[in-house]
Amino acid sequence: MTILDLIRALAEDAPIGIVVTDTMIDAPGPTIHYANPAFARLVGRSLETVIGQSPRFMQGKETREEILDTFKRALASGNRFHGYLTNYRGDGTKYRVEIDCRPLYSVSGEIEGFISFEREVIRRVGRPASGVAGRYEPISASGDALTSALRTLSVFEEMIVERR
Ligand SMILES: Cc1cc2nc3c(=O)[nH]c(=O)nc-3n(C[C@H](O)[C@H](O)[C@H](O)COP(=O)(O)O)c2cc1C
Repeated sequence: MTILDLIRALAEDAPIGIVVTDTMIDAPGPTIHYANPAFARLVGRSLETVIGQSPRFMQGKETREEILDTFKRALASGNRFHGYLTNYRGDGTKYRVEIDCRPLYSVSGEIEGFISFEREVIRRVGRPASGVAGRYEPISASGDALTSALRTLSVFEEMIVERR
């Protein structure tokens, strides 16, 4: 069983988007090797069109460069990226996405790929709670709906990199 087979078994029915890429950080990489059905729904595209692409296809006018730079630095240094981006669906509609992206290390300590957990969020109405995480709430797939496997990984918890 490969690492992708294992991820597929865990991710296929998960209520949040899960996407796995190779390690090629510079364009035209990274290349998507696996995405679950929830990811296809989130980005408004079929799985067939998503596999083999770089996740950059979701970016557009309001996708902030500074956040992408932070994202790239995290990938290059083998760190986790947890932050928020504006992305665009296949039909051009934009959405705000919470991204929790981590390197996948082999037993020998080398990065073999990246896995990202993604869900749509909206700005909270009213006075925001402190910190960037307090400004957004998920539109579906709340913490309660996360599978216990994902909860064990503390997906979407803490260490937000965006400061604004
Ligand atoms: C697993 C994974 C998932 C990603 N998902 C997204 C995404 O949903 N939206 C996005 O705008 N960028 C996403 N990215 C980031 C881009 O692929 C790219 O790394 C980013 O644009 C920074 O690189 P660049 O400055 O060369 O464009 C993802 C990257 C990885 C490794």
